[in-house]
Formats: sequence, C-alpha cells, structure tokens
Amino acid sequence: MKIAILPGDGIGPEIVAQAVKVLDVLKQDGLKIEMEYGNIGGAGYDAEGDPFPESTLKLSQAADAVLLGAVGGPQYDTLDRPLRPERGLLRIRKELNLFANLRPALLYPELASASTLKPEVVSGLDIMIVRELTGGLYFGQPRGIEVRNGERVGFNTMIYSESEVRRVAQVAFGIAMKRGKRLCSVEKANVLECSELWKEVVADVAKGYPEVSLSTLYVDNAAMQLVRNPKQFDVIVTSNLFGDILSDEASMLSGSIGMLPSASLDENNKGMYEPIHGSAPDIAGKDLANPLATILSVAMMFKYTFNDEGTAERIDNAVKKAIAQGYRTGDIWTEGCKRVSCGAMGDAVVAAL
Ligand code: IPM
Ligand code: MG
Repeated sequence: MKIAILPGDGIGPEIVAQAVKVLDVLKQDGLKIEMEYGNIGGAGYDAEGDPFPESTLKLSQAADAVLLGAVGGPQYDTLDRPLRPERGLLRIRKELNLFANLRPALLYPELASASTLKPEVVSGLDIMIVRELTGGLYFGQPRGIEVRNGERVGFNTMIYSESEVRRVAQVAFGIAMKRGKRLCSVEKANVLECSELWKEVVADVAKGYPEVSLSTLYVDNAAMQLVRNPKQFDVIVTSNLFGDILSDEASMLSGSIGMLPSASLDENNKGMYEPIHGSAPDIAGKDLANPLATILSVAMMFKYTFNDEGTAERIDNAVKKAIAQGYRTGDIWTEGCKRVSCGAMGDAVVAAL
C-alpha cells in the first residue's frame, strides 16, 4: 500500500501527523504500508514555485492512495490565480480524475450537544453526500474577468456532459445499494439547463437500480431540508458547486466541520483522502486543531481503496472510543469533557487502537 502524504498548509501538517501516527501503528501490526511525502498548495509554491509541482504529480500517480491535509492561507491570496494553493487542490483532483467525492455526515451520539441544531433533530444522523468533483462550474470554460461595454465582467460556465453525470450517478446508486437504498439528486432544474440534463441522466441511470428509490430536490429546498429534517436523507448526489456548499452545511449537523472526512475516487477506486475542512490559518501551529476528520479519512482509505473493511472499522472504533472516553478538541468540547490538544487527541486514538 503506497500512500502519498501531502500535508499542505495551515493546520495540515499537524492533523496529518496524527493520521500518520495511526498508520505507523498499523504498520507495526504488519500491514505493508509505504509512505512518501510531497508538497501541495502554499507549501508547494514555497518549496517548488508551484501549488501542484510535477514531483507531487508523479508521486501521487505512483501511489495507490493520497492523504491530504489542507491548503490555503492569507499570505497566498495576492498571488496570481494559477499559483494559489486552491488551484493546486483542483489540479490534483482533475489530474487524477477523482470525479466522485464521498462526504459522509455522521453524528456520534456523544456530540449531539456540540451541534448548533437541537439534539432531537440531529441524533442518529447518517448521510452520505456524493459530490461531483472534476466538472461543473469549477472547471467549465469559458471563464474569466474581462472588459465588456466599458466595465469589467466576471464569468464562469456551468457545464456537464452526459457521461460525467452518468459516472457519478452510478457511484451514488452503488453506495445507496449498500446503505438505505434511498438516493436524492439535488439540482436546480427549474432554472438551469445544466441541471435539467443532470436530472434526466440521473433518472436514466436509476433504471439500472430498481431497488433504490430516487427523489429529486432543488438545491435551495435541499439546503433548507438539511437543517429542517436532516434524517430524511440517506445518500445525496449533486454537482461540484452545490456539493461544496451542502457538505459544509451538513458538517454542522455533526457538531463540527472538524469531524468530517472525505474520499475522492477515480473509476478504479484509487483515491485521495482529506478532511473536508480547510487550513484554519488562525489556529495553525498551535496544536489546537481537531485531527479526527483526517484520521477518519484514513479509515475511508482502507474501506474504499484498500478494500479492507476490518482495518477501516478498527480505526472508526478507535475514534469512537476516544470520544466515548471524553477526549475533545476545542471545536467539539462541551462542559464536563477533557479538553485536549491536536497531538493528545491523536495519542488518545492511537491508545484506543
Ligand atoms: C472543499 C474546499 C475546496 C473546494 C476549496 C479549498 C478549493 O472548499 O474541498 O470543499 O471548493 O472544493
Ligand atoms: Mg468546501
């Protein structure tokens, strides 16, 4: 199992270090894991003048899976757009063809009070958001800022081909089959042609999955339903931009954005694994960040890329145990729990492992 480790920026290195502790334990226990480090984001720009250096592309292509921390920081915001950290992240997704982004939102019972929503609304929550990751508004051409009629205009293109919708829908239906067999496709077909096509293609793919009940929601309604009654959802499939927004929203249901892992897969289940949160420059280097989303991303890596459900469960259970024992980083801390640092949370998970 060759894993490329890309810590990135801000809290990236701290949280990835905790996940590496977990991988080291698994290695000691006999799993054949090889880890190699590379630069991405601002770290790539600082070290090699590029947010996604050639060396990192090669390393990631040669690896079976990639573990990524986070990218971005205020010191890079004034760089030319192609040199910005976020562009590095978008390029690695595109280069590795990681079109299916799986973002589970799951509530650990002990964290019900850490959510800003009422415990009865979120308890028992278990949603999987499947976000299309290499198309749509994020990548559509033309895009740019230019002068028209004497003033500047900014423009992007929302575009999906049938094949792009079909492959991500197939992944989502496949996941629904292994879960509650309910899939909700989220779009804005009442306004956007791009969504109209999306809706048609998803309905066509549904014919191959008669056991899955398919529903559709407009994205504005979906955003509302997610906070009104989130437990109505099993699997959600949606486009790149809508998935970006809805997955941040869904993260708050689970108490903290610091809890949510993600997997980004190509058609052979090669994948990149990263927490869904960002680089949190305000707390970077202070040993305060929550490493659980990154550790849970490693669990997803074993489940989806290495087909090792046993190890995935072992990691999940270690996280559950650390939470049950009362360990909390600041973002999920509530009265009566043990407030710990990023490093100490990593140690608690390792001990539970
Ligand atoms: C995410 C992030 C990224 C995105 C940013 C950092 C480019 O918000 O992974 O959700 O928009 O996809
Ligand atoms: Mg996002």
